[in-house]
Amino acid sequence: MTTYVTTPIYYVNAMPHLGHAYTTIVTDTYSRYKRLCGDDVRFQTGTDEHGEKIAEAAAKAGETPRQYVDRIAATFKETWPLLTISQDYTIRTTDPDHVQTVQDILQLVHDRGDIYFSEYSGLYCQGCERFLTEKELVDGKCPDHQVEPKAISEQNYFFRMSKYQDWLIDHIKTHPEFITPERYRNEVLSFLSEPLEDLCISRPTARLTWGIPLPFDSNFVTYVWFDALINYLTGIGYPDGADFEKYWAAAEHVIAKDILKPHAIYWPTMLQAMGLAPYKRLHVHGYWNVDATKMSKSIGNVVRPKELVDTYGVDTVRYFVLREMSFGLDSSFSADAILTRHNADLANDLGNLFSRSLTMIDKYAQGRIPERGTVAMFTPDDRELISAMASMVAQYRECMDDFKFHKALQAIWEVISLLNRYIVSNAPWELAKDARHEERLRMVLCHLAEALWMIALVLKPIMPETAEKMATALGMKDAFADTGLEAVGQWGELPSGLGIDKGAQLFPRVEKRVEVALPATGKQQTANKSQPGMIEDGVLTFDQFKAVELRVAEIVAAEKVAKSERLLKLTVKAPEERTIVAGIALHYSPEALIGQRVLIVANLKPAKLMGILSHGMVLAAKELQADGSEKLVLATVAGSIANGSRVA
Ligand code: MSP
Repeated sequence: MTTYVTTPIYYVNAMPHLGHAYTTIVTDTYSRYKRLCGDDVRFQTGTDEHGEKIAEAAAKAGETPRQYVDRIAATFKETWPLLTISQDYTIRTTDPDHVQTVQDILQLVHDRGDIYFSEYSGLYCQGCERFLTEKELVDGKCPDHQVEPKAISEQNYFFRMSKYQDWLIDHIKTHPEFITPERYRNEVLSFLSEPLEDLCISRPTARLTWGIPLPFDSNFVTYVWFDALINYLTGIGYPDGADFEKYWAAAEHVIAKDILKPHAIYWPTMLQAMGLAPYKRLHVHGYWNVDATKMSKSIGNVVRPKELVDTYGVDTVRYFVLREMSFGLDSSFSADAILTRHNADLANDLGNLFSRSLTMIDKYAQGRIPERGTVAMFTPDDRELISAMASMVAQYRECMDDFKFHKALQAIWEVISLLNRYIVSNAPWELAKDARHEERLRMVLCHLAEALWMIALVLKPIMPETAEKMATALGMKDAFADTGLEAVGQWGELPSGLGIDKGAQLFPRVEKRVEVALPATGKQQTANKSQPGMIEDGVLTFDQFKAVELRVAEIVAAEKVAKSERLLKLTVKAPEERTIVAGIALHYSPEALIGQRVLIVANLKPAKLMGILSHGMVLAAKELQADGSEKLVLATVAGSIANGSRVA
């Protein structure tokens, strides 16, 4: 199978921000996923360098357009390695072969009679670089750029787009996967339910010189979209390169909803006019917002990918954007959210599981992947793990194919939780105490190592550096580059005897969050001010601390929660009686707790655990032991003091 996948080519009128980084990370993840599936993949990104806004930005910067575009295009190109982007080709619309291709295509469409000269008046939005219809305006303004479009009347060349309207409607209707998610397909169909106008494709050189001259009239340059969209063909050597033959039928474009119309309407009709098949799929995502406003260079509320990478590391940034945004919907960037994802999902869930497992292999198997036992020795726990891994990989494939990255990650994290439970219920540190359990101990450790190897493989497209670190620590560095997705779920393939590196640490905890850069002026000023009640840099104000109601409570009853290994249902007096469900069953027997006086958080929002409503939380200290187990000790009060006394 072949895959050809592209990002939009980004305007070089400002530096890259998290919005651009997101699309590029998504496209990179998809390319890496397809490579992992064994596809022959071509991945292209690039920069869009002609047009009025670029010419204006250059003038503002006191540079010639050529100097200016060279400088900014370089900042995009330099950003991609920071995000481990693996593009095969980076195109610039100022590349001579692109200019030639655009002119050849203009000539071809002109010769076929689909370009004509006429007078036009309309409302032009420079931000969008296109004419808007009255219907698209909100309060007379472009909803994306918040400016009133300019009324322009001039003679120009037009593309007979209307001629292809019926064909396009039919194509979208008969190819449900052509535009996804479905909401955008519906949006396009609804737009197409009104008559389509022809597309103005030129600008007089009197008004704009920074563009590609029309081959049939040197008084005009081509309009930015006709120039920009063609990049997807130039990059693969249209019209007769071998790559064009190989990849065009497999083309998939990834964009945000701001450029839906040019991609869903102009581009397929242009292709039709050239006599080419349309692209295969268009994947449309939503916006990264800051406080409900689109992150954008014109507003200035942007987050720079480099700042995030410097604090968290590249893989946290990749994980965060893919996990946090449901592809297709908008998402709000928050400094707290990335800090939490890093510490909870990555440092804690995955990082601890990994280092804990390596520690145990080191201690109980002399630092080597042990010999496995036979299938006959499998316990229900093993079978649960094996079937969970199989259903995870099936779900993962489906979600990655459909651009549901957040769901693919959810599925992987479910297996990570299961593995943490597998460790607790098989307690290798207990097995190690008795020589009769030696075989079982080896199998448990072997299963852990195999499961982590499979997790490294599925994480490869998402967090390439972490996945490689995991494989290396498991002794599988050499095999890693060439192992594909088919290995996930194949138990018994990890060779025994490989030496592991128990010191590998995946995600050091981060205590400080990164501030979002403030816009210099304007209404988004408040966007980054801390909200009342928000915790900054992990430091509590005294008022915030006072809001946590800590009280002394006496445990008067305790019982195991049915079907749970970890939970106990406690009745405490503080001084009124209340029920608290606590995850301490592996450390305390119910009987040992009666009469103990502990500390509780009394004003925690009640939560249901295994169907029981818990009113608060019991405090306990947790310590990771060298043998991989966890020690947990309840916080108790020593002196004599009344139940319900406030702790502060
Ligand atoms: N040059 C055109 C695209 C031509 S493609 C043939 C253009 N460039 S742009 O620099 O404005 O980039 C727009 C794209 O950047 C969006 O479609 C999206 O991929 C990405 N994003 C820019 N801001 C974004 C957000 N705030 N949120 C999500 N993606 C964002 O349009």
